[in-house]
Formats: sequence, structure tokens, C-alpha cells
Amino acid sequence: MTGKAFTSSTRDIPAVSAVPRHVAIIMDGNGRWARKRFMPRVAGHTRGVEAVRTIIRACMERGVDYLTLFAFSSENWRRPADEVSFLMQLFLRSLKKEVARLHQNGIRFRVIGDLSRFDPQLVATIREAEALTAANTRFHLSVAANYGGRWDILNAMSRLMAAHPERRDGFTEDELAAELSMSFAPEPDLFIRTGGEKRISNFLLWQLAYTELYFTDTLWPDFDADALDEAIGSYQGRERRFGRTSEQLVEGKGADDAERHA
Ligand code: IPE
Ligand code: IPE
Ligand code: MG
Repeated sequence: MTGKAFTSSTRDIPAVSAVPRHVAIIMDGNGRWARKRFMPRVAGHTRGVEAVRTIIRACMERGVDYLTLFAFSSENWRRPADEVSFLMQLFLRSLKKEVARLHQNGIRFRVIGDLSRFDPQLVATIREAEALTAANTRFHLSVAANYGGRWDILNAMSRLMAAHPERRDGFTEDELAAELSMSFAPEPDLFIRTGGEKRISNFLLWQLAYTELYFTDTLWPDFDADALDEAIGSYQGRERRFGRTSEQLVEGKGADDAERHA
């Protein structure tokens, strides 16, 4: 088990703040951004790294605490080998170039996902960056690489079963959540997917249960601070009911009522 437990949106009603505490983004549309400009798809990935830099800064300035970026899914191995290897090289290069700056800015860096298929040099660079920034608390940047939501849940369940082979009555939500790779973070408040597709693509399946979803046609390399503000603006117009009625929210006692009658 890692980290302290955060409120589970299905078991308790989380505190809601105007600025999302945790933003999770599927950075999609790099290939199309490049093709529109008659450039190779990978040129879009290179530009995508600049957008990452911009969005980290913008999130920090706006008071977001956790930013989780989907960089490479467990299904992205199905892409042409040269694109996969370009992405790996780009990840390695970008991390080496940026890690000192991340650290200077008080950012704690983590990678979530199954790194067993990654090049040992990349894995070593990731682990070094995680170790270097391990004591930082100002901002939490997590990159999902070879990540899949189903992999994460299965992994957590398998670990629990191995640790408690005698258990016959199953496990609790809290026990499972504590084994997930994002157990160190509150559940995302705001999910953003750029690039126009309206799907989750096996991202944080467990944690997105009550996350506000925002989809935009803007391609990831074009996603800037103004685009982020639009997403946050949309988020601020949502009513996060977590199963309650609007009236209960207005009265501000939905949670108490539910608990009293439970
Ligand atoms: C997202 O952009 C980046 C990765 C999946 C690594 P895409 O490469 O999926 O771009 P499109 O969707 O083809 O435009
Ligand atoms: C999802 O993007 C994963 C990342 C952004 C890393 P894809 O572009 O691969 O998603 P699908 O497969 O089209 O849904
Ligand atoms: Mg895509």
C-alpha cells in the first residue's frame, strides 16, 4: 500500500473546489495535427511535448495540484514500429532535458504503467527522475506510459489476492483503490480529451467513476492555456451531485440526509 487514502467518490461525497484539484488528460490528435501540415505524424508528437510544458505551467498557475497525462496506452504498441520507437526516444529525450526544471519547480514526477516492456535505459531515467523529485510536494505530475485501466485493476486485485490468500469474503473498494497505481492521488475532478474522439480508451477506468468529462476537437499540439481555461470554465458550470438531487445540493445537507437514513 502506498500513500494516504483519499475520499472515494462512490463511498463518500468528496469536497468540491472551484479549481479542479486533479486534472487527467488524454493528449490526442498529434498525428492529425502534423498531417494537416503535410508533416510526418511524429512531428506532431514533438510539438505535443511543447503543449505538455505549457499545460504543466498553466495548471500550476491555476492552483491544480495533480496533473495526469496519458502518453502511451497499452494498445499503442499496435502502431507501426517506427512510430513506437520514435515515441520512446522522444520520451527519453524530453525527460532528460526537463527533469532538472521539474525538480526546480517543486514538481513530483511519477510514471504509472507497466514499464517491463520498456528499454532499460528509459526505465532507469524514469526511476532516477522519480527518485530525484520524490520529496517534492508543490505539484504532482504523473505520466501514464504503457498504461491500461484494466491492467491496473487486475494488477491491484492480483496483489490483494496474493497478500490475502485466506480471504473468502472478497475485498473492499478502499483495499482495491489502495493498490491502484494512482493510489497517491485523489480521483480526477476533470478529465480532458483533446482531438475530438469521445472515448476513454482504457485510461483511468476505476478513478473516472465520478469525474467530470470534457471533450474538445482541439488537437493536442494546439491545446494551450486558453483552451485549458475553457475546460476549467466548463467544469465550473457543472453540478457535481454524486448521486444526490439538485435540491439537496442547494440545501447543502445531502450527505447528512443520506447518512441519517442509511
Ligand atoms: C496522441 O496523438 C499521442 C499518442 C497516442 C502517443 P495520436 O498519435 O493518437 O494522434 P492522432 O489521433 O492520430 O491524430
Ligand atoms: C489514447 O490515444 C492514448 C494516448 C493519448 C496516449 P489513441 O489515439 O491511441 O486512442 P484510440 O486508440 O484512438 O482510442
Ligand atoms: Mg489518436
